[in-house]
Amino acid sequence: MGKNKLFKFADLVNKINVFDKDISLKGKWQQDFFKNGNSIVLELACGKGDYSIGMATQFPDKNFIGVDIKGNRIWSAATITEKLELKNIAFIRDQIDKIDTYFLPEEVSEIWITFADPFPRKSDHKRRLTSAKFLPIYKKILKPNGIIHLKTDSDILYEYTKEVLAEIPSEIIKDYPDVYAMNKNEELFNIQTYYEKMHLKNEKTIKYICFRLL
Ligand SMILES: C[S@@+](CC[C@H](N)C(=O)[O-])C[C@H]1O[C@@H](n2cnc3c(N)ncnc32)[C@H](O)[C@@H]1O
Repeated sequence: MGKNKLFKFADLVNKINVFDKDISLKGKWQQDFFKNGNSIVLELACGKGDYSIGMATQFPDKNFIGVDIKGNRIWSAATITEKLELKNIAFIRDQIDKIDTYFLPEEVSEIWITFADPFPRKSDHKRRLTSAKFLPIYKKILKPNGIIHLKTDSDILYEYTKEVLAEIPSEIIKDYPDVYAMNKNEELFNIQTYYEKMHLKNEKTIKYICFRLL
């Protein structure tokens, strides 16, 4: 591992808004960390946190928590939020299938999944973040009627998600096969992550599904 990456891993302990395998705030995020009663929005596979940071800036009356396993990316996200002095944002470094150890049932209002790895091999489908392995975990921590948003460049992940949803009690609220061609200028689409910018440069279409688990 390079020196820079090693430094970032070691420095994670100094970031007051990073929780690295630390579940001590379970059930107490609003009261003990954010110190407000505002709703909690998760971004899964947050990478360097571009989407969470964009949302936290646009919506000061909500709390945002980005989750990713890569320590160096979480370090970058936390460092940017320090510079921006954002108080309504935190990060968890862990595997996403552990997310129910960090939150009580119904503690979370919304979940964003942004440009998650599509794991194109069929044999890897359980690793996709909208597989039948992950969705019950999200349902457990979401409020009743809680919303999940998926933004992706991947046809495989987009079609797969709709297939999985068709098999379980769920409701698709919005389904945009090409966000930009459809001129969907909804408030959140002006935030572009590192991967979204890269995919747009490569002329990929960006797809979006908003759904509920019933
Ligand atoms: C393609 S990147 C997208 C990053 C960011 N959302 C963006 O759009 O720039 C996918 C991210 O998902 C994370 N990831 C994939 N599977 C994960 C899992 N099961 N648990 C935690 N993180 C995961 C990877 O570490 C990586 O940072």
